[in-house]
Amino acid sequence: MSAKEIGNPLRDPRDRRMPRIAGPCGMVLFGVTGDLSRKKIMPAIYDLANRGLLPPGFSLTGFARRDWADQDFAQIVHDSVKAHARTEFREEVWQQLAEGFRFVPGNFDDDLAFDRLRRTIEELDELRGTGGNHAFYLAIPPGFFGDVVGQLNEHGLARPRTESWRRVVIEKPFGHDLQSARELQDILGDVFPSDSIFRIDHYLGKETVQNILAMRFANEMFEPIWNSNYVDHVQITMAEDIGIGGRAGYYDGIGAARDVIQNHLLQLLSLVAMEEPTSFDARALRIEKQKVLSSVTLPRRLDLTTARGQYAAGWAGGVKVPGFLEEEGIKRTSTTETYAAVTLNVETRRWAGVPFYLRTGKRLGRRVTEVAIVFKRAPHLPFADASTEELGQNALVIRIQPDEGVTLRFGSKVPGTQMEIRDVNMDFVYGGAFTESSPEAYERLILDVLLGDPPLFPRHEEVELSWQILDPVLEFWARQDEKGKAKPEHYESGTWGPASADAMLARDGRVWRRP
Ligand code: BG6
Repeated sequence: MSAKEIGNPLRDPRDRRMPRIAGPCGMVLFGVTGDLSRKKIMPAIYDLANRGLLPPGFSLTGFARRDWADQDFAQIVHDSVKAHARTEFREEVWQQLAEGFRFVPGNFDDDLAFDRLRRTIEELDELRGTGGNHAFYLAIPPGFFGDVVGQLNEHGLARPRTESWRRVVIEKPFGHDLQSARELQDILGDVFPSDSIFRIDHYLGKETVQNILAMRFANEMFEPIWNSNYVDHVQITMAEDIGIGGRAGYYDGIGAARDVIQNHLLQLLSLVAMEEPTSFDARALRIEKQKVLSSVTLPRRLDLTTARGQYAAGWAGGVKVPGFLEEEGIKRTSTTETYAAVTLNVETRRWAGVPFYLRTGKRLGRRVTEVAIVFKRAPHLPFADASTEELGQNALVIRIQPDEGVTLRFGSKVPGTQMEIRDVNMDFVYGGAFTESSPEAYERLILDVLLGDPPLFPRHEEVELSWQILDPVLEFWARQDEKGKAKPEHYESGTWGPASADAMLARDGRVWRRP
């Protein structure tokens, strides 16, 4: 294809400037009463409809153990949209969307309910032209995946007719270690082919996360210094100011490392560290991400290169908050970590010798997710020592959220008669450069499911590799717990985590950024 043809949106199907609108289809949502459905999935579906990206006959079927009629389900969706949608509420959009709402009451082990679900879907194909194309979104605890997928299979819902599709969408956690991740994959893989399984890691749907690839591979100036010749280390931080809220049942026993390092933070690492893919299609991206994940190693001394903590009572947003062990539903003896930090090496020519420090925690000082590429110091400074006392290391900080953008930190002369040099920031702010507000990650990901567009969904191989990286750390911590040797260290809510995490970096002569 010539360059001219590539520039012509009418000729080139790969051109992304045209709005991508899903073809005829429907979605079946399991877990309609959960937080995820109400706060993220339902609002995102409305926002997509409002942006004109869903087909006119789009249908949403809720399945749950509730004695509801279609209208009751519609009311639930309505309340969730009113409370959480990103775009303005428009009655005409709502009315059209709501015509496609159906509700099927039933348990996951109820054969009759799955028969009803099949009939509902067939009726929708007939009445609303959904064309036999349906996505099954399992917004339910993973312990039920097997039951639901088995039922979909037995009731003929998993297999599409010719020219149509069936897809299954699952949310993390994808297992709680390598072994269970494999078991989960066997359950799904027995019923759905791998290109019909969509695993959601919502970080990949964030605009700023996708921008990591745009920055790296659309520009000339970053790539030459993106390696161990210039980079001293990388810090990937996902800090939250919230506690576990009402999620005790999910969180206790899972902890910070399984909850976000295994997925969000290792995905960020792979985008930062990977080589240029041959294209941005799913296969090419996957190859590069897998190469990085397979090159990640842990240092030998996990006692010195990892840290974990548990929030104690303290302050958040001016309010006194309880500690993790006082939260409702948490065992008083729980050793689940709410803060985790790990040191990783990427054993490639590009990154050998550059540590990647990953940390995440709840009830920290601020909500912020960022990737900081911290550069080596200049080999020589032709200034008096006193002039550069306040000069730190250059850093390129990709601000994932909340103040989406990029900051370049470098030394600059302080105005005045002296040659004094201090760090300054140069900022790119998304909101300042683009007038459009960014879509929510779930809008992008749900649309991609309906379009069957896979680049932003991790494959099972990536999930396995991520567990292979993390399992030794989790096993090490579990052994420490068993022997009563060490426990997660308490940190006051509203601070920046346990002292052991600071000590971990100090051993390497480094400090965590205080965003
Ligand atoms: C989820 C975790 O994946 O991400 C939660 O399970 C966490 O514990 C959430 O709070 C944070 O998402 P975001 O998009 O607000 O950074």
